[in-house]
Amino acid sequence: MTDRYAVIGNPVAHSKSPWIHAEFARATRQDIEYLRIEAPHDGFARTVGEFRSANGRGANVTLPFKEAAYRYCDEVSAEGRLAGAVNTLAFAPTGTRGENTDGSGLLRDLTVNLGFSMRGRVILVLGAGGAARGLLGPLAGAGATRIVIANRTVAKAQALAQRFSGSSVEACGFDALAGRDFDLVINATSAAMHHDAPRIPTSVFRKGALAYELVYGHDTPFLALAPFDDIDPVMRGEVVRTTLPRATLAEFGLPVSPMHAAEPIAADFLVSADGGVLAVRFVDAPRR
Ligand code: ATR
Repeated sequence: MTDRYAVIGNPVAHSKSPWIHAEFARATRQDIEYLRIEAPHDGFARTVGEFRSANGRGANVTLPFKEAAYRYCDEVSAEGRLAGAVNTLAFAPTGTRGENTDGSGLLRDLTVNLGFSMRGRVILVLGAGGAARGLLGPLAGAGATRIVIANRTVAKAQALAQRFSGSSVEACGFDALAGRDFDLVINATSAAMHHDAPRIPTSVFRKGALAYELVYGHDTPFLALAPFDDIDPVMRGEVVRTTLPRATLAEFGLPVSPMHAAEPIAADFLVSADGGVLAVRFVDAPRR
């Protein structure tokens, strides 16, 4: 029987989740259907309820609903609780379980796929919404010297930093970034969805810094801010990397081989100009 999944967000037309999961399903010989569902801003819970009634087994959640998804859950993983936001829902007769894979996926992409060592680094996270919340826990535990959360609305950055009080995390507004520079600048705002970039001084990019855009797509306004000669932009245009933790595979009914048992699996998807998948490469392919 075909299993039904969906990505739920608003907007959601840009999401590559349907083809990413279709490729995973093909690679693991699963029979799935994966929908894009745009929920009204005030109707997340209602939309999820309707999808469950229509035999939905699980969903990915994207902006702006990651915090609403957290509130929807009956049970939440430790990472989801720390973030107060989830991006993965699994439905069971007993209730909904939520997971936040944003932070572990990002960390793995940075350290394994891109070879970026976190130890001793100074990191800037732009944004304090659902996406930023998921990143902070795993980032804070990865050995960086300092993590600065900067947000347009400073109070939201401060509230988020307080969840990590006693650690190396601090908060500020964009203006306060003048005169400071960083090894890694992560854009976790949704500015790219409005064809905009956060109003930050371009001097935040230290020479050789990595500019990391969470929204995939060609050349977003944030990446255009960075001085290209000196920095290493991660563009999610042609090759999209994704990481599925073991828990997600299991919850989505995908087989977990002994080779993936301990570690998430990561894959590169080569995308054609019209958004079709040209190739899938498992970055740490299980040896079968
Ligand atoms: P997400 O799940 O993607 O984090 P969200 O919870 O709606 O979505 O949060 C959006 C984040 O992007 C917020 O940090 C928001 O800043 P505010 O808290 O000040 O609203 C930030 N953001 C959105 N558009 C932006 C823009 N044009 N410039 C800078 N920050 C922006």
